[in-house]
Amino acid sequence: MKVHGKAWRSIWLAEDGRRVGIIDQTRLPHEFRVAILADLEDAARAIRDMQVRGAPLIGATAAYGFCLGLWDDAGDKNLDRIGATLIACRPTAVNLRWAVERLEAVLRPLPPEQRPAVAYREAARICDEDVAVNEAIGNHGLHLIRTAWEKMDRRGPVRILTHCNAGWLATVDWGTALAPVYKAHAAGIPLLVLVDETRPRSQGASLTAWELTAEGVDHRLIVDNAGGHLMQHGLVDLCIVGTDRTTAGGDVCNKIGTYLKALAAHANGVPFYVALPGSTVDWRISDGVREIPIEERSQDEVLWVQGLTRSGRLEPVRIAPEATAALNPAFDVTPAALVTGLITERGVCPASREGLASLFPEMAAA
Ligand code: MRU
Repeated sequence: MKVHGKAWRSIWLAEDGRRVGIIDQTRLPHEFRVAILADLEDAARAIRDMQVRGAPLIGATAAYGFCLGLWDDAGDKNLDRIGATLIACRPTAVNLRWAVERLEAVLRPLPPEQRPAVAYREAARICDEDVAVNEAIGNHGLHLIRTAWEKMDRRGPVRILTHCNAGWLATVDWGTALAPVYKAHAAGIPLLVLVDETRPRSQGASLTAWELTAEGVDHRLIVDNAGGHLMQHGLVDLCIVGTDRTTAGGDVCNKIGTYLKALAAHANGVPFYVALPGSTVDWRISDGVREIPIEERSQDEVLWVQGLTRSGRLEPVRIAPEATAALNPAFDVTPAALVTGLITERGVCPASREGLASLFPEMAAA
């Protein structure tokens, strides 16, 4: 997508053909800053500290982090170490493991001296595939938005609620949940995107709102507790969110608070769609609530809020008493029964084992 008129991806190979460029997402929306990853530890830190985040981008960064780790030593033992270092960075998004396993499978049979060049080619392929997959998700989602618009006799904007950031910053380009929004906007369908703030790290307020502003898509920022009220009053036409891990049965694990929105949508008859690339499906598991590890992040993310002061400095401020401790589970699981449909690169399907298997038969059978 475009930033100040120039096309960007969220991750790229630097001109030296070795290091990797990213957009430092911890500085947005106030500062657009590029960071350069020079070694494995830089890549691991970027994932842990959420300079890059969002399931597909975490996977792409892990792929390039793997490449960077090979410069020290491309031997078998180091492949194990690189993989273990990356997988330990964040536990919930399955794309991280998926990317690491994909690199390992390609590299393991090769002699060490051939591994770095092949790894870079594979990482670039993962990025290019992600862009194509997300664009396809956008086209399938566009159809749903168009249908909603026609159902309202093309009167008024289609009001779409989204949670967290599942836009182009969460992927290599396009996004998952926001890809249909960008396609619909380009097709001339009037939209109003309701952006959940998404505490504690406020990816909605800082990243989704920034993306939509840059693309000229009309939106309103809402506090996380407003969605239920808006749905009850008929002010939301559909919800579209992303996912960090989807079970083979269609349970969806996404940013904390997604589950509450799905409950509210279900109670109010609002369609609740989840957009995902096939790489986000964890075919080994079926019960999301029991089987998906939920990342527990620092208490400080809850106890402190970062923002721009009136004098223009980016600063954290504490919002709770000194003695108060916090709990900070970063994700929750929305059971398949609350999901109207899954928007994938291969089409839209019911959130069920049969639905996913109808679109990804080769993965379901493996
Ligand atoms: O903690 P984050 O910011 O990495 O969480 C991101 C999300 O929850 C996204 O909705 C999810 O990764 C899907 S992104 C295409």
